[in-house]
Amino acid sequence: MEQKTLHRQEQSEGGQDQAVTILAIESSCDETAAAVVRNGREVLSNVISSQIELHKLYGGVVPEIASRKHIEKINPVIEEALCRSELRLEDIDAIAVTYGPGLVGALLVGVAEAKAIAFASKKPLIGVHHIEGHIAANFIEHRELEPPFLCLVVSGGHTHLVLVRDYGVFDILGRTRDDAAGEAFDKVARAIGLGYPGGPKIEQIARNGNPQAVLLPRAKVNGHPHDFSFSGLKSAVLNYINSEKMKGREICREDLAASFQQAVADVLTHHLLDAAETVSVSKLAIAGGVASNQMIRGQIERACEEHGYQFYFPSPIYCTDNAAMIGAAAYYDYQRGVRSDWTLNAVPSLKLGER
Ligand code: KG4
Ligand code: ZN
Repeated sequence: MEQKTLHRQEQSEGGQDQAVTILAIESSCDETAAAVVRNGREVLSNVISSQIELHKLYGGVVPEIASRKHIEKINPVIEEALCRSELRLEDIDAIAVTYGPGLVGALLVGVAEAKAIAFASKKPLIGVHHIEGHIAANFIEHRELEPPFLCLVVSGGHTHLVLVRDYGVFDILGRTRDDAAGEAFDKVARAIGLGYPGGPKIEQIARNGNPQAVLLPRAKVNGHPHDFSFSGLKSAVLNYINSEKMKGREICREDLAASFQQAVADVLTHHLLDAAETVSVSKLAIAGGVASNQMIRGQIERACEEHGYQFYFPSPIYCTDNAAMIGAAAYYDYQRGVRSDWTLNAVPSLKLGER
């Protein structure tokens, strides 16, 4: 069942100037996370229990294992988040939870938990879109950042160019036609024997490589200048590995990783700046797991400086999946009067801006 917004209020419960403290839960993929966030910008606690070590054994996230692990971890993670915030459940104004997109079984654990807590404590429930959360991660450390701004969301599941017109008001200018940027990192890492998750490992070995060593494509999508395509780049890497093998040559993993990372960085930088020219914004931001890549953010930062844009990015801990970003996004939903009812369900392919 789709989530419904029960009612919209002009004013938040308690009025606009009172502090609003939200307990947020995130379980859409392989991190079980809970956080307590005040007024959308102040993180009182941020607890993340990562399942990476478990999924590493299989070379990627195994949905069934993810759900089981979320069930095991969710209560202790929430308890820890409340404990670190030095607040009790009575002090919380609303319960927020990611309800899509993501793995259905994983999402369901968070959604069921949030509903149970909200119902038992008679507090409002707010279902949050995962990408909206990634975008809102930028609010945490940039208290001056307000819409409108253009945000490039680059994670394992998504590559979206989003014009944030206002809080909760989005225009998707571009998206990937095939693989997400993080997915390409993960697949290339697997191909060169680095294991899961690929992004941080590629970044690490690329530091000792030559980004110009291997010529790789920077794909454009005909007629859709803001859309991305990473599957051609991934295939070019795989073809290069095979052709070097056939010639009996050892590949230099560092050079290949650096060349691949450079190709992704060039495409992301070009698309972000190109899209910025078509909309009148002065602020550009990045978000999602791939946004924690120092080389990529460094390149985008320099391009923004050159072209006179203000550039925003979250610290790595708020780039990869976490619940603080969900609490940040939920605050603006709360202020707009958005409330979910008890029919809130996991929506694995939820679209941005949909409720
Ligand atoms: O945002 P996130 O934690 O989960 C999703 O919503 O998908 O992003 C995870 C993705 C993975 O594909 C991972 O390889 C990539 O982000 N990633 C990176 C880096 N750290 C994580 N990619 C490139 N460089 C990194 N340092
Ligand atoms: Zn994510």
